[in-house]
Amino acid sequence: MLVFYQLVAVIFGIVWIGSTSSVAHALGDGELNVHCIKSEEQALLEFKQGFGNTSTLLSSWSSGRDCCKWKGVGCNSTTGHVISLKLPCQNSSHILSGELSSCLLDLPYLTSLDLSGNDFKQTKVPEFLSSLRRLEHLDLSKANFKGIIPDQLGDLSQLQSLNLSDKKHTSLRVNNLKWLHGLSSLKILDLSGISISSPANENWYDAINMMPPLEMLHMSGCQLRNKPPSLPQINCDSLLALDLSFNYLNATIPEWLFENCHNLEYLDISNNQFHGQIPDSFENLMSLVVLSVSDNHLSGPMPSTLGQTSYLKELNLSNNHLSGTLNTTLMRLSELVVLDVAQNELEGVITDTHLKNLRKLKFLSISANNLIFNVSKNWVPSFQLEAIGLSRCLSGPEFPKWIQTQKNLSYIDLSRASISDTVPKWFWDLSPKIEYINLSNNYLRGCVHDLSPKLKLHTLDLSNNNFSCPLPHLPPKLRELNLAENSFFGNISRVCKTLGINNSLSVLRLNLNNLSGNLPNCWNYGEKLVILDLSDNYFSGPIPYSFGSFTRLHSLSLRNNSLSGEIPLSMKSCTQLIFLSLGNNKFSGKIPTWIGQELKILRVFSLRSNSFKGHVSTSFCQLQSLRIFDLSSNLLSGPIPRCVFYGMVAKEWEPSHVYDPYINYRDILLVSSEGTYLESFYRNLKVFVILDLSSNLLTGDIPTEFSKLAGLVSLNLSSNQLVGSIPSYIGQLQNLQALDLSRNQLSCTIPTSIVDLNFLAILNVSYNNLLGEIPTGHQMDTFDSSSYIGNPKLCGLSLERICPGNGASEEDSFCKKEGIKDEQEKHKNGLQVPPFYVGMAIGFITGFWGFVVPLIVSRTWRHAYNSFLEQIYNKLYVMLAIMEAKLKRKHFLATQQPPN
Ligand SMILES: *[C@@H]1O[C@H](CO)[C@@H](O)[C@H](O)[C@H]1NC(C)=O
Ligand SMILES: *[C@@H]1O[C@H](CO)[C@@H](O)[C@H](O)[C@H]1NC(C)=O
Ligand SMILES: *[C@@H]1O[C@H](CO)[C@@H](O)[C@H](O)[C@H]1NC(C)=O
Ligand SMILES: *[C@@H]1O[C@H](CO)[C@@H](O)[C@H](O)[C@H]1NC(C)=O
Ligand SMILES: *[C@@H]1O[C@H](CO)[C@@H](O)[C@H](O)[C@H]1NC(C)=O
Ligand SMILES: *[C@@H]1O[C@H](CO)[C@@H](O)[C@H](O)[C@H]1NC(C)=O
Ligand SMILES: *[C@@H]1O[C@H](CO)[C@@H](O)[C@H](O)[C@H]1NC(C)=O
Ligand SMILES: *[C@@H]1O[C@H](CO)[C@@H](O)[C@H](O)[C@H]1NC(C)=O
Repeated sequence: MLVFYQLVAVIFGIVWIGSTSSVAHALGDGELNVHCIKSEEQALLEFKQGFGNTSTLLSSWSSGRDCCKWKGVGCNSTTGHVISLKLPCQNSSHILSGELSSCLLDLPYLTSLDLSGNDFKQTKVPEFLSSLRRLEHLDLSKANFKGIIPDQLGDLSQLQSLNLSDKKHTSLRVNNLKWLHGLSSLKILDLSGISISSPANENWYDAINMMPPLEMLHMSGCQLRNKPPSLPQINCDSLLALDLSFNYLNATIPEWLFENCHNLEYLDISNNQFHGQIPDSFENLMSLVVLSVSDNHLSGPMPSTLGQTSYLKELNLSNNHLSGTLNTTLMRLSELVVLDVAQNELEGVITDTHLKNLRKLKFLSISANNLIFNVSKNWVPSFQLEAIGLSRCLSGPEFPKWIQTQKNLSYIDLSRASISDTVPKWFWDLSPKIEYINLSNNYLRGCVHDLSPKLKLHTLDLSNNNFSCPLPHLPPKLRELNLAENSFFGNISRVCKTLGINNSLSVLRLNLNNLSGNLPNCWNYGEKLVILDLSDNYFSGPIPYSFGSFTRLHSLSLRNNSLSGEIPLSMKSCTQLIFLSLGNNKFSGKIPTWIGQELKILRVFSLRSNSFKGHVSTSFCQLQSLRIFDLSSNLLSGPIPRCVFYGMVAKEWEPSHVYDPYINYRDILLVSSEGTYLESFYRNLKVFVILDLSSNLLTGDIPTEFSKLAGLVSLNLSSNQLVGSIPSYIGQLQNLQALDLSRNQLSCTIPTSIVDLNFLAILNVSYNNLLGEIPTGHQMDTFDSSSYIGNPKLCGLSLERICPGNGASEEDSFCKKEGIKDEQEKHKNGLQVPPFYVGMAIGFITGFWGFVVPLIVSRTWRHAYNSFLEQIYNKLYVMLAIMEAKLKRKHFLATQQPPN
């Protein structure tokens, strides 16, 4: 990128200087005896007024001073006419904000106008600009204009460069590109960020080809499309720079680029849908300095002729499917400054010999390929890197010693590099410029040395290693600190250093370590924290009051510690919480009702395995986004509030929601008890609800309201004191996969509608007082006696207990009454299904006919289905077993810890 801007700056500069060589620039040009023209001074003052009181940049603009000497104003040294107005915003505290005044028309000799970077407040690009017929350079880029670019701009036949790009606001459009035809002197055109997607512009390349030969064409992020399979030719004989990045171009890389665009120095077609191989004809593009084809679907080998582009400084091929080796190409590109081939399928070994010519290299990323980085032990590279990306490259087992020779590093990513070693001491004071360190997912052991408080380090990720020592001293500017999945021990008071006033800390993950002690009360300036994960440690004592400062926190996990006391009232202020997991601790007291009232966007809420008592508050009914609600294994009593279920049906889970990246789907799997849920399933299902109130002291019956929870995938009410019957239309819960009602005092028959639950994979109604015949058919035939035992009056095949001839006679009068009540409820609720759920039901019906029905029809299919389920379980079992092993290891290590 840097190179490109230098290049552009040079070319732009030449054009600019050429055209303004006789301009008397305002500052310090005292000898000139021309003065500005009164009417033009007046126009400039009016222009200034258009920006109201924001025009501090224009403070030198006042009558009484020669306007040719005002900042940004340039006059013709012979005539005194204003010919240039250069007021780009370079410093946001000097931004001009307001409207573009038509008084500019009183500057008839204006040839250059640059107002880039200022703020025109979403006003339109004014048509009157087309009357400034002498304009040669017009730069209105990044200036927050909105709407359609007036076709009249095509009248500017003297214009040589036009920059209307605005990738920041992207609120400009063009009707039709035909007006470009009128710009008969144009050499440089930048329309990046402008939407050119209207049908009238389907043949956008025609409009380009009608223009005189351009030198630079930038149409990045213009929503350009083409008719696959090929990209029509663009007139490119004289093009030096072509930027078509961030569009929807779906084609193979066109041959004409290599045959006709032989002057190209800059080529960027990244972030499109180009596919196929990169043509091997680089011998025609000998002047190439910058080549970026990243983020496409390109495949095949690295073109061998690439090595012939001897001026190449920046090569970005990242995020494609390129295969084969890299080593030969590398040896030739001796001018390279930037090499980014990350995220491809390249393979082979890279040795110091391959790198020895790259003397100018500053940026090296070969991450996420199948490469082996095997350099000799005492290698001293010929380059000084600023950034190293060796993630997923086999670089170990020893810690790469050559890094010690690199003194300008600001970015190091050595994650997943199979390094199994201690980190040498020199690494920790490697470069004062270091900003980013990622050593995660290796086998690093030993200690992390103290980091200098002077470091600008903003990201430190050492997660998933074997570091075993107390926390080091940490630099104060950290934004992200991830030490998770190590064996750090001791207290965490050193974290307080990074939490001073004006700190930047937004992500703090210390989970899965052996940390202990009380949580320090030093979070008063924690307002920038977004993720805080302290789970799976040995912390004890209460939640500090200063947790109330987390006004932006999205995710808080304290799961699996020995924390105690109540949830502090101060946490009322954590209103942005989406994920709150406090399970497996020793918290007690009542569950605060303000959680339901204040934490309105909560989606995942788990308090499982604590000692909370009291009733389940109806305030939870206000949590419209709640999807996982887990209060299991506490001492909660009283009835299940009926309204909880109303809250949970209200909204879809929006997959594109801004907060989603903060929710780790693995975390969701971890909070849910049985782990019966597949990640991909949730990703596809817009609404899912998991409800676990098991192992409490809840009384009363199962509220009929839960039949409205169409997204319910798991319901666990086991080990309570619930009475009454299983609601008869449980069959409406079409997504239910796990139903556990065991160990209650439920009575009456199992409703026959249960047969409709096509996705039910786990059923447990054991140890109740159920009676009558177990319904049969569909997936009901897959459950064995363990689902039903402990119900002496239940009969059926699964229990190998034959039902008496007339099953109904077993029902007592209570159950009959219940049945009638259920029927009435059904009429009340039955048809009030919102349209969304109807849509979803259709989806599932399709699934039913396509998948489940054949199962019923064919025995072999059913067998296949059962083994499919088995596979799912095995997968989950493995996943859970790994987690469990990890936890056990920790518990084993800390023998003082009582098992929970
Ligand atoms: C400019 O004026 C507006 C109201 O006219 C006022 O809100 C704003 O604070 C002023 N800005 C400065 C920098 O004086
Ligand atoms: C300045 O004005 C003179 C006289 O009109 C003209 O010849 C000259 O080209 C102008 N210079 C510029 C830089 O516009
Ligand atoms: C922007 O201008 C302000 C005020 O003159 C100054 O304090 C600040 O350092 C400038 N920032 C940059 C990036 O130049
Ligand atoms: C157009 O303006 C943008 C933003 O000011 C700048 O980044 C870009 O380099 C300019 N384009 C050209 C071709 O100079
Ligand atoms: C690209 O075009 C091909 C047809 O040539 C089509 O099959 C494919 O889906 C398109 N790819 C994308 C990402 O639109
Ligand atoms: C290469 O391109 C990718 C995606 O377009 C970008 O994220 C990355 O920063 C680029 N690499 C360099 C070194 O500029
Ligand atoms: C590049 O790697 C390939 C495969 O690993 C090997 O056959 C070839 O000899 C290597 N070339 C050089 C110049 O090292
Ligand atoms: C790295 O190179 C050394 C010496 O050339 C060799 O013995 C070793 O096997 C290589 N390791 C790998 C992983 O290629």
